[in-house]
Amino acid sequence: MGTTTSDIEKAAGVLRAGGLVALPTETVYGLGANAEDPAAVARIFQVKGRPPSHPLIVHIGGAEQLDSWVQDVPPTARLLAERFWPGPLTLVLRRGPRVPLEATGGLETVAVRVPDHPVALELLAAFGGGVTAPSANRFGSVSPTTADHVRTELGDAVDFVLDGGSCEVGVESTIVDVTGDVPSILRPGGVTREDLETALGRPLAVPAVSTVRVPGQHPSHYAPRARVVLVEPEDVAAEAALAQEAGHRVGVFLPASLADTPVKAHAVVAVPRSLEGYARGLYGFLRELDEQGCDLIIASLPAEEDLGLAIANRLRRAAGPRTAV
Ligand code: TXA
Ligand code: MG
Repeated sequence: MGTTTSDIEKAAGVLRAGGLVALPTETVYGLGANAEDPAAVARIFQVKGRPPSHPLIVHIGGAEQLDSWVQDVPPTARLLAERFWPGPLTLVLRRGPRVPLEATGGLETVAVRVPDHPVALELLAAFGGGVTAPSANRFGSVSPTTADHVRTELGDAVDFVLDGGSCEVGVESTIVDVTGDVPSILRPGGVTREDLETALGRPLAVPAVSTVRVPGQHPSHYAPRARVVLVEPEDVAAEAALAQEAGHRVGVFLPASLADTPVKAHAVVAVPRSLEGYARGLYGFLRELDEQGCDLIIASLPAEEDLGLAIANRLRRAAGPRTAV
């Protein structure tokens, strides 16, 4: 912790020189590069092991910069930007000429957001341009929510790590496509569907995991090394005991409603009662069970409302088939 002004200056210099900077945001840590430098953007894909067709998010320093990055901004997008930025909302809009196709995976649209983290905002102000940043993890694995997660996973592959402490939100931003007549949620995240619907005054559709056809959204994503199995909350303890007896090293996400239930398992995570606490801790819990050597994680889904929608989405993907699509 303890990022200084000279750290920020150094990080901005690394971006200007075409390097990669890991930066804290309120959601997860990002692996950042100068959005306008195709070679630097290409390095992100290489370091992450991410297919180049998977588009990145461009992070900008304020809503007033939106028009220099995108075109044809509909009133709905302005309303959402005004209401939720800085914050965990990403808007998909038509790409402006400043955005290289390398950053959008060849698409004519681009995802943009203003992160709500003082260190990220200071970096964006010092750098002056846009920073493309996917989550700072290897493709398909669990997103990092501390600087240590980034260092452990990416090591020397990143030129500079800005440490901004633990991420407050803990799951990625909500992605909303505002290019069409009706805005649609492409990925649930830190801004809830309910908040968006209140702001827009109309209901929004959320795609089911199995039918998502957004570039970069594979069934298995956000996945720890251990296999993740989802069961009904009331079956968690029994399933864990069975798997443990069958020889697995079982990690359990014990729902708050069952907090006092004895569980036979290798490691147990007590799921926080609040959805905010659950979201904040989620990726750290998955990493922790991996570190404890679990080969199987038994968890259940929270109710899919408010932040529970994003948590359930990530757990479903963590439990998804591991084959590449
Ligand atoms: O909270 C977050 O959004 C974090 C922090 C670092 O800002 N970033 C993040 O980036 O989660 P990443 O690359 O892991 O996920 C971005 C997703 C991609 O998987 C892709 O599905 C979607 O954004 N995306 C990006 N550009 C898009 C576009 N033009 N159209 C549709 N989806 C797009
Ligand atoms: Mg990611």
